[in-house]
Amino acid sequence: MSKTILITGSTDGIGKLAAIKLAKEGHEIYLHGRNSEKLSKVIAEVKSLSGNDGVKGLEADFSDLDAVNKMGEQVNSELSKLDVLINNAGVFKSSLEQTKEGWDIRFVVNYFAPYLLTIALIPLLKKGKDARVINLSSAAQAPVSIQALGGDEQISTQEAYAQSKLALTMWSFYLAETEPELTVIAVNPGSLLNTKMVKEGFGFHRSSADKGADILYDLAILEKYENVSGKYFDNDIGTFGTVHHAGNDKESIKALIKKTDELLN
Ligand SMILES: NC(=O)c1ccc[n+]([C@@H]2O[C@H](COP(=O)([O-])OP(=O)(O)OC[C@H]3O[C@@H](n4cnc5c(N)ncnc54)[C@H](OP(=O)(O)O)[C@@H]3O)[C@@H](O)[C@H]2O)c1
Repeated sequence: MSKTILITGSTDGIGKLAAIKLAKEGHEIYLHGRNSEKLSKVIAEVKSLSGNDGVKGLEADFSDLDAVNKMGEQVNSELSKLDVLINNAGVFKSSLEQTKEGWDIRFVVNYFAPYLLTIALIPLLKKGKDARVINLSSAAQAPVSIQALGGDEQISTQEAYAQSKLALTMWSFYLAETEPELTVIAVNPGSLLNTKMVKEGFGFHRSSADKGADILYDLAILEKYENVSGKYFDNDIGTFGTVHHAGNDKESIKALIKKTDELLN
């Protein structure tokens, strides 16, 4: 059955490859990008490679949370249901280090943006069938500093990336508990996959980008993942795994969500 699937950050990397794979099966695909020219090019490419005309685009720069909110409104007005949301857009190295709020860009793009977008789309997801939210975590995880999250402590690029990914993972566990109608899975798609982010950040890769795209496809579609909400899939080992121990601490999760809501309100 055809599903409606939104993949953020699908103008490149594993998001784009997963979009091609899903489009080939006839699903209705919403691509998302921050650059209109690149987005139009990728929409045309995905349509042509998949032979699927139901490929559409949404534009928003996730370093700007007003743009994220607008995108949420647009999706709510254009779609009647959403079956799968893949929160894939992410940044590691960036020429812009901080957003206008004084927050590290990695916290904003990798954590605040998917947090806000997902909350805006929950009613639409609840109208979907077997609705799933797939959040892109990473093997790079570090305990979240509440001070750094609010821009009151300066941390390195690597540290901010790892903290943003554990924050996203901790919120995934919280969301799974508070929204039992949804299947919420956090996933490390595999380490050092051959993508732009890894080229820019490390200059070498360990695995193909397809490895990451394949697991996004599986988690989005396969029946066996329908009832595994609140878990972390570690594609370095090819199965569900454990996160950094700080990510399971209930009090830390509570404190993270409280601070996140304070900052975003
Ligand atoms: N590659 C790996 O080894 C690896 C490992 C663990 C986790 N991950 C995670 O997997 C996800 C996909 O990464 P990737 O490796 O495929 O990276 P990528 O090739 O760099 O793709 C990242 C995507 O996110 C978009 N993006 C970046 N900043 C954005 C912003 N400010 N607003 C909107 N979109 C933005 C990019 O848009 P543009 O096309 O405009 O740049 C691109 O579409 C990320 O969340 C990453 O953290 C990757």
